Amino acid sequence: MIEVNIDLQPHNTLAISANTAFFARVETLDELREALSFAQQKRLPILPLGGGSNIVLTGDFPGLAIQVGLRGLTITPNGRGGTIEAAAGEEWHQLVMSTVEQGMGGLENLALIPGKVGAAPIQNIGAYGVELCDFFCSLQAMEISTGALHNFSVSDCEFDYRDSVFKGRLRDQFIITQVNLRLEQDWQPRVAYPALQQFIGQQGWDCDSLTPAQIAAAVIDIRNSKLPLPDQIPNAGSFFKNPVVNADIYQNLKSAHPDLVAYASGEGWKLAAGWLIDRAGWRGRRQEAVGVHHQQALVLVNPGRGCGDDVTRLARAIASDVQDKFGVTLEPEPRYYP
Ligand code: FAD
Ligand code: EPU
Repeated sequence: MIEVNIDLQPHNTLAISANTAFFARVETLDELREALSFAQQKRLPILPLGGGSNIVLTGDFPGLAIQVGLRGLTITPNGRGGTIEAAAGEEWHQLVMSTVEQGMGGLENLALIPGKVGAAPIQNIGAYGVELCDFFCSLQAMEISTGALHNFSVSDCEFDYRDSVFKGRLRDQFIITQVNLRLEQDWQPRVAYPALQQFIGQQGWDCDSLTPAQIAAAVIDIRNSKLPLPDQIPNAGSFFKNPVVNADIYQNLKSAHPDLVAYASGEGWKLAAGWLIDRAGWRGRRQEAVGVHHQQALVLVNPGRGCGDDVTRLARAIASDVQDKFGVTLEPEPRYYP
């Protein structure tokens, strides 16, 4: 059923109030096809919605928002490994915990990332040294213009840091309906990330006998200690990507700021944007309804339920200040609509 003039505030974790001209929740592939043909007849733009944890609504959306509610999760364990077939409307964290509870390893570092399975490939979700593409097998997606189903392999998806073909060349052309993952049997814990090392040391856990469940518990604890829960303080996670710069720029910055946090990344260096924003003096600052989280400067928050313009004004002010102070360009991670 297509609803008219619906406020998307309950459907985005920044809790921005903005109306969509049309709204449909779809639970089957046929319902999805019907919604797409309705939009095509009326020449409406489409906003595919999962949990709304990586979008910024800058105003009313003049099209059809489609909440992808396709359900179904098949997990087939094989020792520590196995395969997973998940429909796009499944909760990502529930998927992770279902594998961990069955003793399977691989996804534990990605625990507690909000949102739905269908959005996970869009920006190749990642955390604590692991990315979705490490376990990705294939996905199924419906072409918006034809309603036809297509399969995408890992190479088709062109995954990169917080990026995929669905944010680039094939942007706005497909709705992801199912994601298939494969976990290898020879699981090894991935705990090189400094915060994980520190947590494991504090607990006194033996590094040679770590289990996926222990690592998931560590990740959940670390995340809860610094990331605000969206239903308590509205936010969209990291607001900017960590910028990647070349070795010359990194060396100059490191000489000027010896405590700069950065990680080698391919041929360049990935700078901790949270550190840059923090050192520019923004951590904990409030600007009218919106602000910068006091424990993690990369997270913009919306405690006063401000509008999209409040959020974008703050984001622009931060990016411009970081550019002036460090000569580094910050790129937003969430997608802006419309
Ligand atoms: P939405 O916000 O609903 O959508 C995001 C984008 O994907 C939109 O452009 C939307 O149109 C599109 N989309 C959604 N579903 C589909 C579909 N089925 N087909 C086609 N397009 C679709 N991200 C990380 O990578 N790592 C983290 O550690 C992390 N931590 C976070 C912590 C917090 C507190 C929050 C609020 C966010 C965090 N995020 C993180 C960002 C976010 O959780 C992820 O990007 C997540 O995958 C978004 O899922 P969603 O269902 O909410 O997507
Ligand atoms: N830092 C500061 N001040 C701050 C925030 C961070 O100095 O206010 C420093 C920290 O001390 C740390 C470094 O910056 O040394 C990195 O911080 P953190 O470990 O919190 O990670 P991050 O780089 O800020 C990234 C991802 C997160 C992901 C975590 C864990 C991006 C844009 N963000 O954050 O993903 O959960 O690493 O892997 O890559 C998201 O994408 O929404 C997200 C939350």
